[in-house]
Amino acid sequence: MSIKLNYKNLGLREHELEFTRPLAECAFKTLTDRSGAGHEMLGWHDLPHTYDKEEFARIKAAAKRIQEQSQVLVAIGIGGSYLGARAGLEFVHGPFGNQLRQNGGVEVYFAGSNLSSDYVQNIFDIIGDRDFSVNVISKSGTTTEPAVAFRLFKAKLEEKYGKDGAKDRIYATTDKARGALRGLAVAEGYETFVVPDDIGGRFSCLSAVGLLPMAAGGMDIDQVMQGCLDACERYKNPDLMSNDAMLYAVSRFLMLMKGKQVEILASYEPSLVQFGEWYKQLMAESEGKDHKGLFPVSANFTTDLHSIGQFIQDGSRNLFETVLWVEKSRQELIVPEDPANVDGLNFAAGTSMHSMNEKAMKGTLLAHVDGGTPNLVVTIDKLSDYNFGELVYFFWKSLAISGYMIGVNPFDQPGVEAYKKNMFALLGKPGYEDAKDALEARLKELLG
Ligand code: PA5
Repeated sequence: MSIKLNYKNLGLREHELEFTRPLAECAFKTLTDRSGAGHEMLGWHDLPHTYDKEEFARIKAAAKRIQEQSQVLVAIGIGGSYLGARAGLEFVHGPFGNQLRQNGGVEVYFAGSNLSSDYVQNIFDIIGDRDFSVNVISKSGTTTEPAVAFRLFKAKLEEKYGKDGAKDRIYATTDKARGALRGLAVAEGYETFVVPDDIGGRFSCLSAVGLLPMAAGGMDIDQVMQGCLDACERYKNPDLMSNDAMLYAVSRFLMLMKGKQVEILASYEPSLVQFGEWYKQLMAESEGKDHKGLFPVSANFTTDLHSIGQFIQDGSRNLFETVLWVEKSRQELIVPEDPANVDGLNFAAGTSMHSMNEKAMKGTLLAHVDGGTPNLVVTIDKLSDYNFGELVYFFWKSLAISGYMIGVNPFDQPGVEAYKKNMFALLGKPGYEDAKDALEARLKELLG
């Protein structure tokens, strides 16, 4: 089954879709003609046709070797260099994937996406004296967070296996020719994989960037690519009403036009929490520029109905909700009968938990729509490798169209540099000395 989109509860009028149609079809054409801003970063668009098959085979072989040589893989990267792999692994194996170890996969822990020493030490403790390998993923090789984490894990590997042993356990995914990590990998003899030049971080999870950790963790990456390929074909249709990726773009655009500023991606499966993280980067880094864009947040229901649910129901009316609904659960658990019935739940005895989840979703949808939070539903049949690849492509394509519709370059991220410049100056990085005194004076003023 392919992805289903239901936008009936957004309250859109027929004429709104009609008036927006030319703009959407123009954005679609701009994308497919490769004539828009950032067109040089469209390597993801035909990726399921054009990906490097020789490298794909090497990724599978490396994953197998990691599974043979280690119990743990530490995947080191930040932003686009880790979010997709983490989302994929939890999508398919659930939040306890590392404990349950499925399909021969190793435990995969993600490091290099923060500067917390406690976090790194926790991973050291989890590894203990078990065997581990490292996949360092950075196009530039100089991004601070992964660079710090790589130094720490490389030192641990060298301490445990010696320099020679360590190099057989380090896999570097980086620029094909340039960059600090490429230089190091060549000098040290690590096996390397490529971050393609024409694919930005947030579109890179179905390149070696995401595929190696996913495969090492036991995902079926052939199925992932098949799902991506089928979506790539399906969303080639230039007619708005026959292309759900375009309809989702139009829905988001119209919500923005109607004063909605926040899109909540809401799911009812804890397996989708990390998918929400991936989605937030994709949307925020692509559209949030030139003082425009929808602010993406994610929520996991029913959990979050007991926290931010109040706001969604009744707070500022600047939100709309995209529900990512999974039709079938992997396991069918039935609510048991309890003679004491102290919780009054015997009326539901014999019902499956999943059907209760579905009633919660439907009840919430009605309540939120009635409360003034428009709602659209994206449905998939189950959490599978195939569906992960399909959904990733659906969101990529839709976002690229909506980005062009609001008139931004969806493929750059100039704003990400601002905090880095300040941090480097405060850390005293060579080249940033001039800014240091002024920044420290301002901090004194602001923070005391
Ligand atoms: O989407 C992006 O471009 C970013 O999130 C990058 O992926 C992130 O900053 C990591 O960069 P690099 O791979 O150079 O370490």
